[in-house]
Amino acid sequence: LHRPTGSPGPRRDLRSAPFLAAARGERPSRLPVWFMRQAGRSLPEYRALRAGTEMLQACLDPGLTCEITMQPVRRHGVDAAILFSDIVVPLYVAGIGVDIVPGTGPMVGHPVRTAADVERLPQLDLEQVTPVTDAIALLLAELGETPLIGFAGAPFTLASYLIEGGPSRNHERTKALMRSAPEVWHALLARLSDITSTFLQAQVAAGVDAVQLFDSWAGALSERDYREFVLPHSAAVLGRLADAGVPRIHFGVGTGELLGAMAEAGADVVGVDWRIPLDVAARRAGGTRPVQGNLDPAVLFADFGSVESEVRRIVAEGRRTPGHVFNLGHGVLPETDPDVLTRVVELVHDQPV
Ligand code: CP3
Repeated sequence: LHRPTGSPGPRRDLRSAPFLAAARGERPSRLPVWFMRQAGRSLPEYRALRAGTEMLQACLDPGLTCEITMQPVRRHGVDAAILFSDIVVPLYVAGIGVDIVPGTGPMVGHPVRTAADVERLPQLDLEQVTPVTDAIALLLAELGETPLIGFAGAPFTLASYLIEGGPSRNHERTKALMRSAPEVWHALLARLSDITSTFLQAQVAAGVDAVQLFDSWAGALSERDYREFVLPHSAAVLGRLADAGVPRIHFGVGTGELLGAMAEAGADVVGVDWRIPLDVAARRAGGTRPVQGNLDPAVLFADFGSVESEVRRIVAEGRRTPGHVFNLGHGVLPETDPDVLTRVVELVHDQPV
C-alpha cells in the first residue's frame, strides 16, 4: 500500500466527479458539497484517533493523516476529501519554530519582525514534505473516485502568524510592518510564497486533484492594501500552479470587498464566506468563475428547518453563478453535531442541478 513518492498512482477515473465538473464550470450530475474542516473535532472518531498525539505529529504520520482524512468521506458522503494537515506544516518541517496549541492555534517561538529575522528563514526542501506526499499516496489508493483537495496557507495569513507570534484579532504588528518597513514585508512575503508554492507543487506532483489557498485573514485588509501588499505574492503562488492541471480555489473570510482582487490573483474557483450572497460574490469575482460556499457554520446549531431554508436559499443563489460547489462560509465549528452535517449533504444532493 505504501508506494514510494514519485511512482505512478492508482488509476482513478475522475472525469465525472461532481466536484471537479463544478470547479471547471461544467454542469455536474449533482450539486457537490464538502466542508472546510470536515476532518476534525466535530467527529468523535477523530477525537478517539487523535488522543495522545500532538496535532503536528498527526499531520506528519501518513497512516494517521490518511485515516483522519477518510473519516468525513465515509461518514458524510461528501464529494471531496481535504488532506488533513495545517497551514503551518510547511513552516514546521522547514525548521521554523512553530507549534499548534490546542484551543488557541499556531504559536511561533521567535516572531519574525526584522530584515535579519526574514534573512534567517529557511527554505522548504522537497524531501521535508515526504510525510505529506506519502499520506497523499495512501489516500489515492483509498479514495476511489472521490477527489482529494490539497491546500496551503497564503503568504499573508502565514505572515500574520509569524509576525504576531500567534493568532491575532487586529493584525496590528502585521499592518505596522507592511507600512513601516515595506522592503522587509515584501521580502517576507516572497519567502512565504516560495514555501507555499513548493508545498502545493509537491502535493500536485503526489496526485491531489485540486488545491485550495487559504488566505483566511485577508479580509482584515482594505482592497487598496490587499492589492499593494498581498496580491502580487498570492498571484506568484497561484501563477506557479497555472499549468498544474488542477483547479485552484482561493478562499478568505470577510473578503466581500476583495473578491475581484482575489479572483485576479489567479483563482479558478473563489471561496465565499456567509456575509454576501453567492450570486453577488460571483459577479464581484468577474462573473465567469465558479464559487464555493457559503453556509454560515453557526447556522448548523439552529433547528433543522432553519438549516434547510438556508441551504435552499444558497442553492438558489448558486444557480445564478457560473458554477457552485456547496460548502460552509468557514470551517466546521468543533461543537457541531456531525449528524447535522450528514443531513446537509443529503439535502444538497437532493437539490435539482
Ligand atoms: O478542512 C479540513 O478538514 C482539513 C484540515 C485543516 C486543519 N487546519 C486542521 C486543524 C485545514 C484546512 C486547516 C487550515 C488552517 N489552519 C487555517 C485556514 C483555514 C481556516 O480555518 O481559516 C488556519 C487559519 C489554521 C491555523 C489553525 N490551526 C487554527 C486557527 C487552529 C485551531 C486552534 C484550535 O484548537 O481551536 C489550528 C489547529 C487545527 N488545524 C485543528 C485542526 C483539526 C485543531 C487541532 C486539534 O484537533 O487539536
